[in-house]
Amino acid sequence: MADERLIGVFDSGVGGIGTLAEMTRLMPHERFLFYGDTAHAPYGTKSRDEVLGYVREIMAHMLARDVKAVAIACNTATSVAAAELRAAYDLPIIGIEPALKPAHEMRHGGSILVLATPMTLRLDKFQRLMGQYGEGAVPLPCPGLMELVEREAFEQAKRYLIEHFSPYDMSRVDAVVLGCTHYVFLRPVLAEILPDTVRVLDGNLGTARQLRRVLESRGMLREAGEGSVTFETSGDPETVLPQMNRLMRRAREIMEYAESNMTK
Ligand code: DGL
Repeated sequence: MADERLIGVFDSGVGGIGTLAEMTRLMPHERFLFYGDTAHAPYGTKSRDEVLGYVREIMAHMLARDVKAVAIACNTATSVAAAELRAAYDLPIIGIEPALKPAHEMRHGGSILVLATPMTLRLDKFQRLMGQYGEGAVPLPCPGLMELVEREAFEQAKRYLIEHFSPYDMSRVDAVVLGCTHYVFLRPVLAEILPDTVRVLDGNLGTARQLRRVLESRGMLREAGEGSVTFETSGDPETVLPQMNRLMRRAREIMEYAESNMTK
């Protein structure tokens, strides 16, 4: 018997919608509840304890909606809280991390720039990842960049990225890792400013595959019937919900053209 319950997916804002889009593509019969914690965003420049508090509240909300699994579509929240949530709850909890391993596997002697929030790059989880796959990797904290994506200020984001990349010789960079789910919406901008030789990697497909694997192995996958997505926000629903629907369409377009780059 398939498990008919919802799958909870959350992020500090709209970034995780890219991860959600991959999930709906891979699991078209599932019913998803996406929660964007707009009122408390950004997470990446706050303290660890603050983010932990927000995540605990979201988790309580998800459990009240009787979800069968939770996917944390936020690198920052995963780094802060995934281990604690897994220890505290019985249901499958899937996280996301910067796609450093696939970047390492395709590296051919150049550098790998890892773009993420200051918190993701500071915490142990990323430090361990660097220990394993960090050869040639350069962590590049991007405070303020998620806010530009939240505002869909893509021209400003482009200027931000040009400035942040300016110290690097891009002909010596093999890959740029998008270690924050918001940055996936910057793929069109990155395609404009990076040479073709630089691969752009994100963790969305890997995370969606992991969710499907876990549900399948537990016999919880919904394999027939219509899928659906319900959006929720801690921000102003009148402005945020239409934006979420718009970005879901955008994420699907981006996903299609970036497919060959989205490995994990
Ligand atoms: N989307 C988030 C991430 O993947 C967090 C951005 C933020 O809230 O600072 O890290």
